[in-house]
Amino acid sequence: MYSKKVMDHFKNPRNTGEIEDADGIGEVGNPICGDIMKITIKVKDDRIEDIKFKTFGCAAAIATSSMITEIAKGKTLEEAKEISKKDVSCALDGLPPIKEHCSNLASEGLRKAIDDYLMKKKD
Ligand code: FES
Repeated sequence: MYSKKVMDHFKNPRNTGEIEDADGIGEVGNPICGDIMKITIKVKDDRIEDIKFKTFGCAAAIATSSMITEIAKGKTLEEAKEISKKDVSCALDGLPPIKEHCSNLASEGLRKAIDDYLMKKKD
């Protein structure tokens, strides 16, 4: 049911944990199932220098969280904001249709973390 890439990222998730002195934090929950995720980012020169995630959720939620951290690392904030849930599921060679909603967490979490950083920067 899951692709090899999904299983790989589920079994060996990349960039797990939390950045202690994070510049931006994004916390989101999936209203459909109640799963939650938290993304923390470190920003330098408008680029995502470091990114970590913690996800309490299903295999697809963990795999998409892991994959989005890999895609986003090193990207500018503008580029990272454009990463869609489709980009993430394509990078994982697709998700089973009933698991598509699980990829919302990753892209929403990243966007929230970026918005949080931009808000804090304004103050
Ligand atoms: Fe909750 Fe997948 S079932 S995110």
